Amino acid sequence: MHTDRIMRLALEMAGLTEVPEDTQVYVPGEITKALVCIDVDTGLLSIARDLGYDGVIVHHPQGDEAMLNLHLVMNRQLQTLTKAGVPEDEAREALRPRQFGVERNNHMRNWDYMPSVARLMGIPFMNVHYPCDLMMERIVDAHVQRRLAETGPAATVQDLTDILLEIPEFAHAKTRPAVVVGGPAAPAGKVVTAFAGGTNGGSAVVEAYWRHGIGTVMTLHMEVADILKLRQSEVKGTLVVAGHMACDSVGLNALVRVLRANRLDLTPMGGIVPGA
Ligand SMILES: [Fe+2]
Ligand SMILES: [Fe+2]
Repeated sequence: MHTDRIMRLALEMAGLTEVPEDTQVYVPGEITKALVCIDVDTGLLSIARDLGYDGVIVHHPQGDEAMLNLHLVMNRQLQTLTKAGVPEDEAREALRPRQFGVERNNHMRNWDYMPSVARLMGIPFMNVHYPCDLMMERIVDAHVQRRLAETGPAATVQDLTDILLEIPEFAHAKTRPAVVVGGPAAPAGKVVTAFAGGTNGGSAVVEAYWRHGIGTVMTLHMEVADILKLRQSEVKGTLVVAGHMACDSVGLNALVRVLRANRLDLTPMGGIVPGA
């Protein structure tokens, strides 16, 4: 299967019509048997070839525009923010500090390192980031909202983390969903699943949700400095860090299912936990 077709199937899966800013084919080509991983380094590319794989599909951006434009895909968090009731101006303002940090950090990175290695090896190489994260956000949110509705308005934060563990990837991951701001006994309130859109939106985005009636924000991950800031925040709410590899596995397993149905031979590894 050509890398362009793999990309098309990934976009179709997520209901997207254009390749998002954080997703890219670095080395195009035909793939019959690929490694699928969350991160990759030069050693893994070499191991892939040694083991007879003729392509590598990775989740996180590996260079070029996909890496340098990661901050742009964060604008897609606006949809989740406004849907939850945050006015658009305030949502943009809340995203700005973290977006600035992501843009500046990626700007200083060596954007051609991994793509150049893959080119030199002549191995088809691509990453699929936002389409997988969007699928993952939908799958997790649908489950969580359905189960919370069944539990009723008295559902606690502990109920919420228990509900997350009903999803196979969360059950199989070595990390457990963590309540990093607030406590498990508190009512969960309205819950937002803020997973897709580049990376977490930082403390200002969590505060914006809290300010507009969200009781519990769920993110994949959150920097320690942001967690400490949120613990001191005048706006009160709960923050659950669901678990990075568990969440990313949900999106990658969805992609693997689609590609396997199209007869691509795939080996998920490197942090992808089983989805069944
Ligand atoms: Fe992800
Ligand atoms: Fe990730």
